Amino acid sequence: MAAVHYAGVSHRYPGADSLAVDSLELDIADGEFIVLVGPSGCGKSTSLRMLAGLESVESGRIDIGGVDVTSLAPRERDVAMVFQNYALYPNMTVGDNMGFALRNAGMSKADTAARVLEAAKMLELEPLLNRKPGKLSGGQRQRVAMGRAIVRQPKVFCMDEPLSNLDAKLRVSTRAQIAGLQKRLGTTTVYVTHDQVEAMTMGDRVAVLEAGKLQQIASPRELYDNPVNTFVAGFIGSPGMNLIDAPVVDGAAVVGNVRIPVPANAEARVVLGIRPESWSLVGDGVGSVSVAVELIEELGAESFLYGVPPRGTDWSTQSGRLAVRVDRKLEIGLAETVRLVPKFDEVFFFSAATGQRL
Ligand SMILES: Nc1ncnc2c1ncn2[C@@H]1O[C@H](COP(=O)(O)OP(=O)(O)OP(=O)(O)O)[C@@H](O)[C@H]1O
Ligand SMILES: [Mg+2]
Repeated sequence: MAAVHYAGVSHRYPGADSLAVDSLELDIADGEFIVLVGPSGCGKSTSLRMLAGLESVESGRIDIGGVDVTSLAPRERDVAMVFQNYALYPNMTVGDNMGFALRNAGMSKADTAARVLEAAKMLELEPLLNRKPGKLSGGQRQRVAMGRAIVRQPKVFCMDEPLSNLDAKLRVSTRAQIAGLQKRLGTTTVYVTHDQVEAMTMGDRVAVLEAGKLQQIASPRELYDNPVNTFVAGFIGSPGMNLIDAPVVDGAAVVGNVRIPVPANAEARVVLGIRPESWSLVGDGVGSVSVAVELIEELGAESFLYGVPPRGTDWSTQSGRLAVRVDRKLEIGLAETVRLVPKFDEVFFFSAATGQRL
């Protein structure tokens, strides 16, 4: 077990103009489960692969357990990697797949078998140890891949989208299994996903990356409650926070017929962040924001209404629509106009120029 420290770590792929990872600064505690999340191409895999020693470090330093590993080969780092495409050896049994690396490293047959059995019990793979991977379900194969990493008892687990080959339901149950297992093993884990729900449900802390740069690292709740900028605000949450660009008149942002007092450092325009659940539907006669219903998404326990602002307004949303959580039994037709009022104490304010929280 070991803490991990990225000290200003950058990576540039040969011939690329910009850095794939730019001065990454990350302190991961011993035993912590950290999730790297962000859109495709933001540098998650590159960050992880530098930790595992599979990509070089252009500048900066990586420590594992207080030891500078920046120039060490992958096998000298005591890191186990689980990939999305966890190619298992098709001709080997589950047990042999799991023990392969140990045998290769010279461990005795008996010791290997004991380690494999222990991991198999944890992963509920014991009855399958003698099967070949071809005769396993996707979820079982994924657990074998986890098992291969676990038996090595590494200092750090590096996981790159290990669940993305599984169907939605299996992903949900497997993510809970992995998170539970990690807690039991207490092994420092860096986990990469582009799925913010996965990130929020699994991580002790979540690091949000965009365009090679770390935007924020915080607990899931803190990310949700205190996003530092519009990127994090819009990325976390499903649907993400509505980001509304609005003019500021006499110390208040004006959206439709609603005036929302803004912080003193706001400029002539401001970006308001208002989550889908932070709205109320109101009747006529109240100062409100009107939108035309474009789509209603019924998810069972809850519904989301997507509305478009009327033409010619002085405010707009970054996504072009406003997402609003509504009563799941609300009967409302497409193209109907609804009137909304935000919960004032749940509104976030961001600089229109920089996107930073005001
Ligand atoms: N082998 C490579 N050669 C050149 N550029 C690369 C290479 N691998 C990745 N990149 C570029 O580096 C940037 C970061 O890529 P990376 O694979 O780390 O992204 P990611 O966050 O893991 O994305 P995804 O969610 O799609 O897996 C991207 O712009 C990508 O195009
Ligand atoms: Mg990737």
